[in-house]
Parts: sequence; C-alpha cells; structure tokens
Amino acid sequence: MDVSFMAFSRLAFGHWEGQPLYALADLGIPQRLAQARSCADLAAELGCPAEALERLLDCAVAQKLLVCEAGRYGNSELSARFLTEDSSESLLSWIRIMDRWKRPWAQLAEAVRQGAAVDNQAKWLGEDPQFMRDFILGMHQFAARSGPQFAEALKDLPVRRLIDVGGGAGTYSIALCAARPEARAEILDLAPVVDITRETARAAGLAERVTARVADYRHDEFGADADALLFSNVLHQESAGVCRSMLARALRALRAGGTLLVQGYFLSEDRRAPQFTTLHNLSALALWDGGRSWTVGDMQALIAAAGFERQAVLRQESSGFCLLSAAKL
Ligand SMILES: C[S@@+](CC[C@H](N)C(=O)[O-])C[C@H]1O[C@@H](n2cnc3c(N)ncnc32)[C@H](O)[C@@H]1O
Repeated sequence: MDVSFMAFSRLAFGHWEGQPLYALADLGIPQRLAQARSCADLAAELGCPAEALERLLDCAVAQKLLVCEAGRYGNSELSARFLTEDSSESLLSWIRIMDRWKRPWAQLAEAVRQGAAVDNQAKWLGEDPQFMRDFILGMHQFAARSGPQFAEALKDLPVRRLIDVGGGAGTYSIALCAARPEARAEILDLAPVVDITRETARAAGLAERVTARVADYRHDEFGADADALLFSNVLHQESAGVCRSMLARALRALRAGGTLLVQGYFLSEDRRAPQFTTLHNLSALALWDGGRSWTVGDMQALIAAAGFERQAVLRQESSGFCLLSAAKL
C-alpha cells in the first residue's frame, strides 16, 4: 500500500466527508427518525425523490451516522446523541454553522490573494438573527464539554467574582459557577447576544449567579475589583492594537492580586503546528476581518507589556487549546 498516496488522497477528498452530515442536519432527518422509517415514507414527507434520498441515507449508514434494518432507516448512536434537537448533547447549531462556513472556506485562495475575509462573519452576526443564534449556541454546544476542565484548572484560584469578556452563551462562567457555589460571573457581550446568555444561564439553574451585561469590548470599560477576568476565544478575533487596549482595560478591572485568564487556540512558536490551530488561523483569515491565531510567546509578550506578572500556562492540549494566566500585583 502506498501510504503517502493514501494520505494525500484523503486530503484531496477531505471536503466530501462532511457533506452528508450537513445535508442530514439541513433536511432534519435525524429529528424525523425518532422511529425507524422506510426511505419512501421519509421521501414523501420531505417531498424529494426517493432515489436521491436513498443515496444520502446509504452514505450516512456507511459513515455510521444512521443504521438500516429490514429496509427501515433509524438513528445510530452518533445521530441520536449529536443530531437531534432534544438530546442534551445536541450539536445541531454548531453543525449548521460548519455547513454555512463551508462556502467562505471554499474561497480560501481568494482570501489569501486579497489578504482579507471573503465573507466577513461579523457582518452577518449583526444582520442575520438566525445565524447569530446558531453561532452563539453552536459555540456553547461545542465548548460545553471542556467546561469542567476549565473549572478544574482554576481550582487553586480564589475566584468569587469573574468578568467574562465576550463570554457568548456563558459556557465557561456557567462551568465555574456550577463547580464553585461561592462564585458569581458577569458576562459582557453585544446587545443581541446577552438575551441568549441569560437563556443558557437560566437553563443551567444559575440565573442568580451568572448575569449578563451589554458592552462593546473594543471600547467599554470592563468593571472594577474583579478576582478574575476571562478572555476566552476572543483575542484571536482582534488586531494587536485592539488586544493591547483590551489587556489594559482588563488590568483596570481586576483587584490587586486578581488573575487574568486568556483561553483559546495557540500556535507553536514557528506557527506551523498544531495542525488544528494552523487551520484555525486560516479560518480567522477567511471568515473574520483582522483576526489571527497567536503563539503563546506572542500573547505572553502582549500580556507582560500590559503590566501583568507571574504568567503561567494552566492547561495545554495537543490541538493547541490553552488556558494562560497572569497576575495583577
Ligand atoms: C468565538 S466567541 C467566544 C465565546 C466564549 N467566550 C467562548 O469561549 O465560548 C466570540 C464572542 O465575542 C463576542 N464579541 C464579538 N465582538 C464583540 C465586541 N465588540 N464586544 C463584545 N463582545 C463581542 C461574540 O458575540 C461572541 O460571543
């Protein structure tokens, strides 16, 4: 077997593999397969030709997204867990976002040619409420799994009051407050987002201790006397100048002895690894104007220049996902 050819072909065919998943989600098929059904029955409900639908269903069986027994299609463990609305592990919002992003990703060469996003997603966040809701809830669905590790990484820090800047649905604040009965968190985000934040806090039974406030993190002050301030998955969206300004305001918002937390995907110092973060860096180019992935060294230099001390890496994963900390003395 020519292993190099196999690996190369896999890359070349790579964009085929996710398409059946997106189509299943788009057509709402796992939702309609709570009970196993024949293809003809499902095709009649969807109003599509049974022969075309059968090809999709059979490919989904090959990908272990569906099962088929005695001519009736049903959900596999994967689709029941991740592709149905009512599952507590649903990733449907996130899958719809990935589906949407395949279009700007397909124009990556153009993004490189022009050195800017081909379809800036920030614009759609403001203009398309369904996209904004899927984006915020999709990130929550994806990130919620790492919430407990986030809370665990902070176990030695005294955090009674956290400010979570650009906190979205409040994933990490909710994880911290669920693990620490003494903790309270305030999430700062854009106006249309904070209603969703309040919804997720209520659903987690933490509406009293996880609150949300409208703020534009590019210009507004973040507050005062916080024990900890979190930038999770936000600094890669911004230029170095905006990051400097945000770090300066973070210093003002913390009490003496308070902790800055910066979480996100970081590149190796030569910027060529880990592979996932090199893709994340391209996503920042093609989808978001002005963003880029940082190396831990670059980020720590920005943090030190803002006046923070005692820097540490609290968590580091092979994907490049890291949690950095620094103290205001
Ligand atoms: C990639 S999400 C990260 C959400 C969350 N912190 C997490 O780690 O899952 C980026 C967040 O930044 C918010 N955001 C973008 N621009 C912002 C701005 N100018 N002011 C406040 N929040 C902003 C978005 O609404 C979104 O919730």
